Amino acid sequence: MTDPTRAVADRAAAGFTTQYGGQAAGRWAAPGRVNLIGEHTDYNEGFVLPFALPLQTVVAADRQDAEQWTVWSELSDETITFGADDVAEAGRVTGWGAYVAGVVWALREAGHPVPGARLAIASDVPLGAGLSSSAALESAVLAALLDLGGLELPAESQPRLAQRAENVYVGAPTGIMDQSASIRCRAGHALFLDCRDESVEQIPFDLDAAGLAVLVIDSRAPHRHADGEYAARRRSCEAGARALGVAALRDVGVDQLDTALARLDDEETRRRVRHVVTEDQRVLDTVALLRAARVRDIGPLLTASHVSMRDDFEITVPEIDTAVEAALAAGALGARMTGGGFGGCVLALIDADRADEVAAAVTAAYAERGFTAPGTLTVLPSPGATRLP
Ligand code: GLA
Repeated sequence: MTDPTRAVADRAAAGFTTQYGGQAAGRWAAPGRVNLIGEHTDYNEGFVLPFALPLQTVVAADRQDAEQWTVWSELSDETITFGADDVAEAGRVTGWGAYVAGVVWALREAGHPVPGARLAIASDVPLGAGLSSSAALESAVLAALLDLGGLELPAESQPRLAQRAENVYVGAPTGIMDQSASIRCRAGHALFLDCRDESVEQIPFDLDAAGLAVLVIDSRAPHRHADGEYAARRRSCEAGARALGVAALRDVGVDQLDTALARLDDEETRRRVRHVVTEDQRVLDTVALLRAARVRDIGPLLTASHVSMRDDFEITVPEIDTAVEAALAAGALGARMTGGGFGGCVLALIDADRADEVAAAVTAAYAERGFTAPGTLTVLPSPGATRLP
């Protein structure tokens, strides 16, 4: 266990003891993620390349006899309880508890006899920063319930189940990337995921060996209509695929892009399609470079991804664009927004010894424009969900 994991795991264990008395039967951790490249491609059945963060959500838990789930979270210092009726139908538990109830619901819906449980949750994954705090919570709860109940569900099937919790129980129409990252990522690697058949390849992403670092910049931009805009982008992509007569935009290759665009009459749909098709190719190009250990060379692909999100997919905001421009001006090899958009985080690929300089340049650019100061953190690709010793 790394030191940061130990602290959050201790908080979950201590929370368990304070709330319920005694010791938890175990502790399960699941990380947040950043996506190196491949944005808004997952629900188009394309490619993504996320890696897990060293920031984790930890659940300390044990079974209880009643068919009941009692959940305490350090974030609100609140305890909620729900029973079989609340997970008989999607949407009955709301607020943060919905992510927990959603996992119980999805497991039961898939025919698993979920044991009643008492859970205590602590987390280092910031909420609302686009680092997948919800997937981390779902994945940690799922790992805990599977172990407590002795239930068998192969790792490759777990993301789909956690995603159902979020899509159907919580009601957010997100893709498969975040839960896949939280569950299937490995330390030192990025997860190359084909979102059509969910096959994965662990791609070595050895920043240390290349003398590089990834700086994550929390834009602190307020999320502006993120949910509605996300759903609207998804609808545009589906409309584009329908108009082109393909199952998903994944089926349009970059070599067919011009012909495909010429067949679309709507200018906005053309831009949305161009982003998705070129972004899939950028993921493939990034993977090819990483397989050849050419980590430095992926920088321009990251920046091109950002430009495509800014101009074609139109999901960036001024704070995010400022952070990208300032990082590049300060010498980053590449920089892009990561996650769903309309706020959230930027990642910048930098020489390891320049982290402070780049962070200071972004902070100064923010101050000049009167934005709330950004948060910065250098990260390494970290392990996915696991039971802690
Ligand atoms: C959010 C969603 C993911 C994915 C990204 C955009 O993080 O949860 O499924 O669509 O946005 O790439």
